[in-house]
Amino acid sequence: MITTPVLLAAGEGTRMKSRIPKILHPILGQPMVWYAFQAVRSSAGRKPVVVIGQGAEGVKDVLGNEVEYCVQVERLGTGHAVQQTESLLRGKTDNVLVTYGDMPLIKSNTLERVVASMQDYQGPLSMLTVMADDPRGFGRIIRGQDGNVIEIVEEIDASPEQLAVRELNPGVYCFNSRWLWESLKKVQLSSKGEYYLTDLVSIAVNEGHQVQTITVSDRTEMIGINTRAHLAEVALVMQDRINQELMSSGVSIIDPHNVYIEPGIKIGQDTVIWPNTFLQGNTVIGEECVIGPNSVIRDTSVGDRCVIFSSVLEGAELENDVDIGPFSHLRKGAHLAQGVHMGNFGEVKNSYLGAGTKLGHFSYLGDATVGPNVNIGAGTITCNFDGEK
Ligand code: UD1
Ligand code: MG
Repeated sequence: MITTPVLLAAGEGTRMKSRIPKILHPILGQPMVWYAFQAVRSSAGRKPVVVIGQGAEGVKDVLGNEVEYCVQVERLGTGHAVQQTESLLRGKTDNVLVTYGDMPLIKSNTLERVVASMQDYQGPLSMLTVMADDPRGFGRIIRGQDGNVIEIVEEIDASPEQLAVRELNPGVYCFNSRWLWESLKKVQLSSKGEYYLTDLVSIAVNEGHQVQTITVSDRTEMIGINTRAHLAEVALVMQDRINQELMSSGVSIIDPHNVYIEPGIKIGQDTVIWPNTFLQGNTVIGEECVIGPNSVIRDTSVGDRCVIFSSVLEGAELENDVDIGPFSHLRKGAHLAQGVHMGNFGEVKNSYLGAGTKLGHFSYLGDATVGPNVNIGAGTITCNFDGEK
């Protein structure tokens, strides 16, 4: 059975009060939609389709040609957004997995469970639900006396009784595609002037189908982003997940609430991360290093047994046993060989420093090649002024 993921990302995100489309707001260095894409890609039997709004061309810079794009010109709701993908997908996929681009904490294995649940189920739709005390504006799952789902009611349309329901709709559904295309035509305009995807539940039930539900237990997966406060909340959970993974692989983090480590950063065993450390971009840290406090390391590769203290490293390469800081700055193309020592107030740009070379006390080296074991005196600078320009 082929399943195609459809990621909805065309909403205006008015509650963010921003000029940037909601799904492009960054979380630990990556736009929100990147996380949602990472989660769907493994459940994909076919290239995922992303529904974007006009003016959201920035999404293409993030996801490139790893997905197909579908532009929703008028933003008439989640049902309308899915409908836009029909011309692209009709006849090409058995099932369609729909998720929302503003749910970056959903894990791929949760999505895989929803996809797998379609295997021995005859009905037209399988969906996730979550039990939570804080409803966060989510649609409520309404069940009948027999316990089966009968409808999803959006918060603004819910009665006081329905508002009290604690089973919520996180917004992950797998549909039989043929049923989906036919049924989307039956969705009526809501009181909010939108075509709700969630109306497909009552449409299925009225046709006599049983809607299958899968309940997720990890509530953090269900934190959707509608406001800046939600954005900050998600970043904390994301950081916690990254920290847990690093710590379980043998990295010490002195204060996990006080580090900013982007996804995908590799750190070797027995390295210790002190507070107020930022590890960003394409950074790799070796084993038995001491990193921080107060350091920013971006797009840099650090060898084993290095010490980085209160310094900023960007686009640099450090071999083993290098120690830097306090208050030094490595810029693009700085390459420090084994055992280089760089003390306070040093700056190195596009230069090679040979093994064992020492540079302390207010020095700047740019576009230079320095051999091994050189002792650079205090206040040294290199200058590449060519005498004319
Ligand atoms: C939606 C669900 C709600 C669920 C909640 C979970 C509907 C009607 N409601 O509400 O039951 O509990 O998500 O987070 O589906 N989008 C488009 N085009 C549109 C409108 C929205 O692509 O015309 C996209 C948005 O970019 C967003 C997603 O769909 O990624 C959900 O839209 P949003 O407005 O955030 O819906 P919620 O009010 O959160
Ligand atoms: Mg939302």
